[in-house]
This record gives sequence, structure tokens and C-alpha cells, in this order.
Amino acid sequence: MTRFVTPEGVNPLRRGLIEDRTGDACAVVIFGASGDLTRRKLMPALYNLAVSRSLPSGFAVVGVARRPKPGDQFRTEMHEGVSAFSRRKPVDSAVWADFERGISYVQGAFDEAKTYTDLKAHLEELDKERGTRGNALYYLAVPPAEFGIIVKNLREAGLVAPPSAHREGGPWTRVVIEKPFGHDLASAQVLNDTIASTFDESQVFRIDHYLGKETVQNLLVFRFANSLFEPIWNREHVDHVQITVAEDIGVEGRGKFYEQTGVTKDIVENHLMQLLCLTAMEPPISLAADAVRDEKVKVLRSLRPMERSLVQENVVRGQYGRGFVRGEEAHGYREEPDVAKDSRVDTFLAMRVFVDNWRWGGVPFYVRAGKRLARRVTEIAIQFKKVPHTLFRAPDGGISPNVLAMRIQPDEGIALRFTTKEPGQHTILRDVAMDFRYGTAFGSNTPEAYERLLLDAMRGEATLFTRRDEVEGQWEYIDRVFEAWHAEANAPPPIYPAGSWGPDQADDLIARDGRRWRKP
Ligand code: BG6
Repeated sequence: MTRFVTPEGVNPLRRGLIEDRTGDACAVVIFGASGDLTRRKLMPALYNLAVSRSLPSGFAVVGVARRPKPGDQFRTEMHEGVSAFSRRKPVDSAVWADFERGISYVQGAFDEAKTYTDLKAHLEELDKERGTRGNALYYLAVPPAEFGIIVKNLREAGLVAPPSAHREGGPWTRVVIEKPFGHDLASAQVLNDTIASTFDESQVFRIDHYLGKETVQNLLVFRFANSLFEPIWNREHVDHVQITVAEDIGVEGRGKFYEQTGVTKDIVENHLMQLLCLTAMEPPISLAADAVRDEKVKVLRSLRPMERSLVQENVVRGQYGRGFVRGEEAHGYREEPDVAKDSRVDTFLAMRVFVDNWRWGGVPFYVRAGKRLARRVTEIAIQFKKVPHTLFRAPDGGISPNVLAMRIQPDEGIALRFTTKEPGQHTILRDVAMDFRYGTAFGSNTPEAYERLLLDAMRGEATLFTRRDEVEGQWEYIDRVFEAWHAEANAPPPIYPAGSWGPDQADDLIARDGRRWRKP
């Protein structure tokens, strides 16, 4: 069939229609389907795609896990998950009835060949019944230690089509994996090699769910669809940048996991580094996946390595102790279940980072992330330089610099702070903000990150997924922070009270440069 398309591949008659965002016909096969991720995130996301009519007509979702789920048990559990966690409530019974027909379950152990022969027969059946065209999106919702055995068995069962098959008009196969992508550079490389033993990089979709957030995507639009900001987005005009990823929750029963990761590996290495890259990167030549990812990788390569001599003045770690969060008493980290009583794991990290290139030479990026902080807020703040000469006798002896604050969550929006004259006979200066809020402008029921990401994976659009060299570049930087830390400081992290903004040392880090953290 000939499709009428523009050079960008868009049918102009369908532009703006919901169907423009429909995924390719396929079966989404979830390994680890009895886990929390499937119930809380994946199924609600797929259901919401069904509500917005974004799923292809040839669609099926297959759960694969060890536990037997006789009869309709899997569908019933998925319905419960969607009822509890969908952003649209209550569940629309007509949409569910239709969506549910595509849900099925294959029981089996991941290390048994039979699981895969069963899966193969099932997928062939589904292809006939539901028109999935042999396309398969494998979602590995399992611990990374199980990736190897699954991809090997998929390959040996003939369940993986090479990219060339799709180029020649045949079916496609893709694989989606979740963080943690290893716990350091070496383990990330092993993991990547494992996946690469079976899949070409173009078939691999690594999820960093931050990239699926509307406001993170808007960073690209804000920077590159407006002519106002890009000319001043550089060392000539920017004094410094602050990136904050603050959570008020603690480790929420994930003590065992946190003892292995800490905030640096859980949040900084991935979500925060992605925000840094999107803020600092050069304009890509297009929005094609590799064009955007090339620019992000260049930022990672420009980061000034954290040498031993630099770590003391540039890195502050912290761990939460007892305190009060939103008026309620909170335990200290070492009192959490599965956490060692003398744990040295970080739940807070603040760093001064430099991007050594022509755009950013000499501009500090102060970044911080932590659990059990005063409130939940993720934001990027660009602080511009002071005016070169003060004409006004301001009472506080100076004029506040302009700040552009991009609020990723919650209260998503963008605010620009500038100075005005207070009405009256005297020239009194006052800071005001120009405030754009998503909720007010567009309503607040924005899609969940997983909706966008699953749909993009079904369409083969990889721009919002992390490429191998990106993941490895992130680890390379973080590994050096740890090495430098252990070689030079290696002290237990200072304790900060739950409900505060982190240890005092974090304030000292920025105060040494004559600056202070924003209180977002
Ligand atoms: C996850 C981390 O990747 O991101 C969690 O493992 C953290 O520790 C979560 O709480 C934060 O995500 P969000 O979308 O709530 O900001």
C-alpha cells in the first residue's frame, strides 16, 4: 500500500490526529509479569494508551513468569493493578473489555527452553488471531542478573529477528530494559555485552523514566523552539546552574537495594545526569535519536573528571538521620529495615561540576539529590550574571540576578525572576516572577512517563532512551567520583536531619563560591 507522506514521514491528512501516535502492530511480552512494575506502571500505561486510542489494532500483551496463574487470574490481577494505579479513574469498562481480550499469560521458568517454545507457539497463535505481524517487544521487568539467560533463550528459540529482517519488510524484535544498568562501569559493560550478544543496539531501548516526563521533554522544546533563550544560554550570560532532585520520602522498604546503590547510583548517575546533559548540550541537528544522543554524549565527555585533589571541595555526601518530614517524625536511614546500623551509604549528594567546553567554560553546575529532604521538588535553575553596573541604591546593596527556574515536578512550570520598581514615589526595587504553569495552561492530567516510553518503543523511536555509550559515559564519571572519594576522603557521610535540605557541608560547598542554594 502506498502511503501519502511528507519528507518527514508524516501523512499530512493525519497530522494532529490521535492516530499519528499509534504504535506498530505488535505483541508486548513482559518477562517478570507478576512483579510490581507490571501492576503499578506497565499495565496502567498500556491501558491508558488504549483509552487514548494510541494502541495499534493488532496488539497483544503477554505476561511471562514462573508462577502458575490458572484461568483468568492474570487478567484479574491486571485489572486490579489498573484500577489502583491508572491516572484515569474509574476504569472504563468498555475500553477494558476490549483491551483485556489482548492479555494472556505464559507460565514458565526463565532458564527452561520449554518456556520459550511455549512462548513461540503462543506468539504465532496471537499473530493469526490478533494480527501482531510477528513483531515483538520484549520487556525485561526482571533483575539484571536474569537478562543473560532470557536473551540467550530467546535467541536459541528463534524468537529474535535481526534488524535486517525488518528492513526487508519482515517483522521487528526489540528489547526494553530498566535501570539499574549495572552498578559501575565494568558491570554496565558486562550487561551491555550480554544484551549485545543477541540484539543490535538499534533494537535496545534502555528506560530512564525521567526522559518520559513531559517537563523533561519540554526542555528540548523550550531551548530549541524559542529564539529568546539560546543566545544567552552560555558562559557570557550564565553565572551558574543549579539542578535539584529532592525527595521527601525515605527508602520506602527498599533498604536492601539502597545499601547497594545509595543516591549517587540510584538517582545521580542516571536521572540527574540526564537533566544535566539536556541543559548543557548543543542544539542537535535534528530530533533523530542518534543526533540527540550524540550531543548528550559530548556533554558527558566534557565533564571535568573528579580527580582526588578535587573531591574534597567539590563533593558532599550525606545520610539522613531522624527528623520531621511534613510535621511527622521520620526514622533515620540506619533505622530502616535491611540497613546496616553503621551503614556509610549516601542518601544525599551535592557536587560542583564543570562542563569544560566553549559554551560552559568556568560556569559551575551545582547539582544535588537526596531522600528525606524538606520537600519533593525537581528543578533546573539557570542563574544569570549580575548587571555590570548598579544605577539604583537598592536597600540590600544590590540587585538580584535573573533566574530562570524550570520546574520538572511537582507544580510543573517555568518561572523567570526579574527586578521591578515598586509603585510609589520612591525607587524601591522588588523581585517578581513571570510564571508559566502547566496545570493552569493545559490541565494537569498529563500522560505518565511509561505511556510515552512504551509507545515510542512500539514505534521504534529511540530518542528518549539511553544509548550504550551514554550509560557507560555516565558510569565513567560516577566511578571516578567514588574512586576519588574513597582514596581521598573515605569518611562516613555526615548525618543530616530528615526534613532538612541536607548536611551543612552542602551549604559550605556553594558558599565558598559566594553563592547559595535556592530554596525551591
Ligand atoms: C527511581 C528511584 O528511579 O526514581 C527511586 O529508584 C526514586 O528511588 C524514583 O524514588 C523517583 O522517581 P519520580 O518519578 O518519583 O521522581
